[in-house]
Amino acid sequence: MVKIAVFASGSGSNFQSIMDSDIDATVELLVCDKPGAYVEKRAEKHRVDVFSFTAKDYSSKALFEQEILKELQRRDIELLVLAGYMRLVGPTLLREFQGRIINIHPSLLPAFPGLDAIGQAFEANVKVSGVTIHFVDDGMDTGPIIAQEPVRIEETDTKEDVQRKIQAVEHILYPKTIQNVISQWQRSVN
Ligand code: GRF
Repeated sequence: MVKIAVFASGSGSNFQSIMDSDIDATVELLVCDKPGAYVEKRAEKHRVDVFSFTAKDYSSKALFEQEILKELQRRDIELLVLAGYMRLVGPTLLREFQGRIINIHPSLLPAFPGLDAIGQAFEANVKVSGVTIHFVDDGMDTGPIIAQEPVRIEETDTKEDVQRKIQAVEHILYPKTIQNVISQWQRSVN
């Protein structure tokens, strides 16, 4: 079983879909930068350890990432899964987890990176948006793409409709892609 840490800032529906999936991994830790976020309740329910922090309490990103790193290392975490973590990962974690950090983004990257990707797509009146899962590098929603799935936007769709459709795809695509990444590692060591 591969040991995973999920990083999230909000409701955690993707965290939930990972917990509910049948993958060759165990979620050992939730890292949350918004104390009180609903994702923490989900973690507690599943008896997953939570490391919760407020960035403002630290004078630099390096300092809070060092704390996170300690939590990851003492649990032998192998893969970092960002699921609605609203922060750029800094050099402290990137260096240690090179090629072992993945993120999910609610658009077909490189279209609509950054905040409110669903709103951006809706405003742009595109007919197709979707979901991207990619390895994380030091950019904003950049890094090699692992999986993508399109979602059609109909004329009559509201922004909420688009959000619902995109999240439904996310909840299937993320666990499946995590499993594919793990299977690929397992094949490469055997
Ligand atoms: C998802 O749409 C994900 O693509 C984006 O943030 C959202 C998180 O949603 N990065 P949730 O907290 O998992 O419900």
